[in-house]
Amino acid sequence: MMWIYSLLVSSLFSNNQAELVTASKRDILITSSTPLSDHPACLQTTYYGTYGGSSHTQEHIFLPSPECLTAQGTISSLNTGSIISVPPSQDGRIVWVGPAGVDPSLLPSNSDLSSTSETISSLSSSSNPLTQDETQHVIGISWEKKEIILLHRSSNSLLLQVPSDQLGILDTLLPAHLVPVALPQEPLPTLWPGVGSRFASNLANLTKTLKFDPTLDAVLNEGIQLNAVRRNVRWLTGEAPSGWKSRHAFTQGAHEAAKWIKHKVESLGPECIFFPFLPGFSPDVICHYPSLSNSTEMVILSAHYDSRGSFGLTTAPGGNDDGSGSGQLLGIVEAISSQGLQFEKQLVVAFFSGEEQGLYGSHHFAKHLYEQNATVLLHIQADMLGYHVPGEPLQLALPECIGLPEAAHLVGNVSHLYSPELVVGTTAACCSDHQSFVAYGFPATQVYERNGPIADPKYHNSGDISQREGYDFEQIVAIARVVLATAMTVAGWKIK
Ligand SMILES: *[C@@H]1O[C@H](CO)[C@@H](O)[C@H](O)[C@H]1NC(C)=O
Ligand SMILES: *[C@@H]1O[C@H](CO)[C@@H](O)[C@H](O)[C@H]1NC(C)=O
Ligand SMILES: *[C@@H]1O[C@H](CO)[C@@H](O)[C@H](O)[C@H]1NC(C)=O
Ligand SMILES: *[C@@H]1O[C@H](CO)[C@@H](O)[C@H](O)[C@H]1NC(C)=O
Ligand SMILES: [Zn+2]
Repeated sequence: MMWIYSLLVSSLFSNNQAELVTASKRDILITSSTPLSDHPACLQTTYYGTYGGSSHTQEHIFLPSPECLTAQGTISSLNTGSIISVPPSQDGRIVWVGPAGVDPSLLPSNSDLSSTSETISSLSSSSNPLTQDETQHVIGISWEKKEIILLHRSSNSLLLQVPSDQLGILDTLLPAHLVPVALPQEPLPTLWPGVGSRFASNLANLTKTLKFDPTLDAVLNEGIQLNAVRRNVRWLTGEAPSGWKSRHAFTQGAHEAAKWIKHKVESLGPECIFFPFLPGFSPDVICHYPSLSNSTEMVILSAHYDSRGSFGLTTAPGGNDDGSGSGQLLGIVEAISSQGLQFEKQLVVAFFSGEEQGLYGSHHFAKHLYEQNATVLLHIQADMLGYHVPGEPLQLALPECIGLPEAAHLVGNVSHLYSPELVVGTTAACCSDHQSFVAYGFPATQVYERNGPIADPKYHNSGDISQREGYDFEQIVAIARVVLATAMTVAGWKIK
């Protein structure tokens, strides 16, 4: 076996907990017990996040001190969980890997986590599949002997220790139905009770007082152009002649896409910056519309422009994931420009990278906003807007459990007013950039293409282009209308 360290997993209620606690090791506690606010204070200050997209499989992760673990009451406050002893801290990151929420009909026959961990084990010490194809210029990967270590395997997830020089390629080692989310490097702020609850009443009030505004509707009708969205998506996928075969965050294509996005947005008004986060990854592109009233409050719209291809292949057009969200966001920027929209609050439009390897780009940005004491009134991530099963109606799904419910309610109600053709529902599809905002207590939600599980047969596949059955630009446009109308509602707007 390739694993350097064998698993040391113990049930919480075994009677040898003390043996797990040694000075040279760190302990990780994974539990499904909620509510988090009932946990002892020493656990709350060592919280490293909640993982998983459905309420019955969510896992909360803590890195408690040995004293906390052995203290009276710590273990008894939880009803389920595992304690894992981790090798002394080393280079790299701890990464949770779990189900994306793919429809069972699309799962490969060997989709269980034990076969996946075997796969990671054998691949992590062989060659990097990305470098084998000369059509891709891969930046900055030095493929060394350090190995990815499996720290823990539960029925829902894996926990990996990933060396720094392999953070950028973890996605290429995983089957399509599994997604990575990196744990933060420091504990998350203690924000309970209620993520984003500070902002919930503002959003709930806006939902309550919503009414159809014909002027806003006209802005959407004239501003959001299907042809423009399609042009943007096809440039990103390489279906139009951008020359990019992949926007995997470590490829030349992603670095070029970042420059193209920045240039394109700036040509339409707002200023953008590159926001780098980890060596080798293409940077986030963060664009900013100033407030008309010098308000420090902001609304954030985002998508991720990086992509993931099929196992072992180097092409990754990312037409749906997340060319659709990125093309939609560019379509919104075009609408703001063509309609002369200005906002009372600040509006930030963010194109993230490193999403596919563990939400790195968005996490870095959300942490930055938290450290700046930014006041975020609403964040909406658009990830996968383009696909529905042929024959199904146009849809809009909001997250089943990742995000602030009041944010999702506002988006859902706006949808009824401005894109009534969308059937609104929920999804447990997991892990996109809104999770980074949730982690820092910001009021965040996601818009997604389909009620229920992921049904796109080209999910994380090198065939994810826009010219295929089930890919529907009408749906992307309908969702873009909802996203822009929601941003206008929360940010306040006028026409220049
Ligand atoms: C929401 O509305 C309630 C009742 O009208 C009011 O008391 C509260 O201050 C409002 N909250 C915000 C953030 O505007
Ligand atoms: C915003 O700030 C600028 C510069 O400080 C000032 O000139 C302007 O009057 C302010 N605008 C409003 C609406 O307060
Ligand atoms: C943010 O707020 C904290 C607490 O009020 C303060 O100590 C810190 O200096 C602030 N940071 C910035 C960047 O304003
Ligand atoms: C509309 O908002 C209400 C709360 O005001 C919420 O219960 C309802 O689910 C929302 N509708 C949609 C479609 O999201
Ligand atoms: Zn995505």
